Amino acid sequence: MLEEASGLDAAAQAADADAVATQRAIDTMRGLVTRRVAGEPLQYVLGSWSFWGLDLLVDRRVLIPRPETEVVAQVAIEEVRRLGERVGRVDPWAGALTHYAVADLGTGSGALALALAASLPDAEVWATDASDAALDVARANAAGSGTTAARVRIEAGSWFEALPEELRGRLLLVVSNPPYVSEPEFATLPAEVADWEPRGALVSGPTGLEAIEAILAEAPRWLAPAGAVVLELAPHQAIDATARARAAGFASVTVLTDLAGKDRVLVARCVA
Ligand SMILES: C[S@@+](CC[C@H](N)C(=O)[O-])C[C@H]1O[C@@H](n2cnc3c(N)ncnc32)[C@H](O)[C@@H]1O
Repeated sequence: MLEEASGLDAAAQAADADAVATQRAIDTMRGLVTRRVAGEPLQYVLGSWSFWGLDLLVDRRVLIPRPETEVVAQVAIEEVRRLGERVGRVDPWAGALTHYAVADLGTGSGALALALAASLPDAEVWATDASDAALDVARANAAGSGTTAARVRIEAGSWFEALPEELRGRLLLVVSNPPYVSEPEFATLPAEVADWEPRGALVSGPTGLEAIEAILAEAPRWLAPAGAVVLELAPHQAIDATARARAAGFASVTVLTDLAGKDRVLVARCVA
């Protein structure tokens, strides 16, 4: 917050520790501290947060992007590499030519979609959400992401309903960090989450598995023959989600762990 208020990073502050703060910086700092003391998450107070090296606008319209979700981005990008596509930071001088499509369902701030666009130079990236308010944030973040935005398409609607029919059978990858908290679990969340982040970004329904199930059931109709789904989940959902992926017809289903060693990312492949 001090960096934000003063406009100086930590090193610059240390180098000039005796400098007298301006009245404007003091007023800004007071405003930030007041919000933080009221329990507002730091990320909303600052108005931006880093995800996959991207500086994303975040406010109460969207979930705050989490470190676990960076693991989801990494797994998704590795899946695309496994399928033989080029992976790596985009050359800013490259054109916007694409030869395959991927989708991020429930994009929120656009975190996963923009990470994929930044790291998959030949991908057309579809980003969808049921919340129009969230999509306004995703659009602002896409606009701020430079040349990659030319390959990102943002659409409103529930899961696959947001996508155009011509994408059926063409998606190389579907990635999602869907809501996966159950209604009873919502009551146990810390106030800093439950009182501030959008309920529709957190809660899936009575069991918490509703969104995961809906995406897995519909995905085979939208994936290319060798395509894959990469989904974030809660560790205690790994067994049930795996069963649902098998029931939907996926040939290979695995669950990978996050940086804390907890089951977090389901990978379901059409071809083993
Ligand atoms: C857990 S948040 C994830 C946001 C972002 N992808 C991230 O990882 O930071 C889930 C997102 O799914 C969206 N969502 C909830 N129900 C949906 C539905 N039926 N169809 C599409 N998106 C939905 C919410 O609005 C929210 O933005």
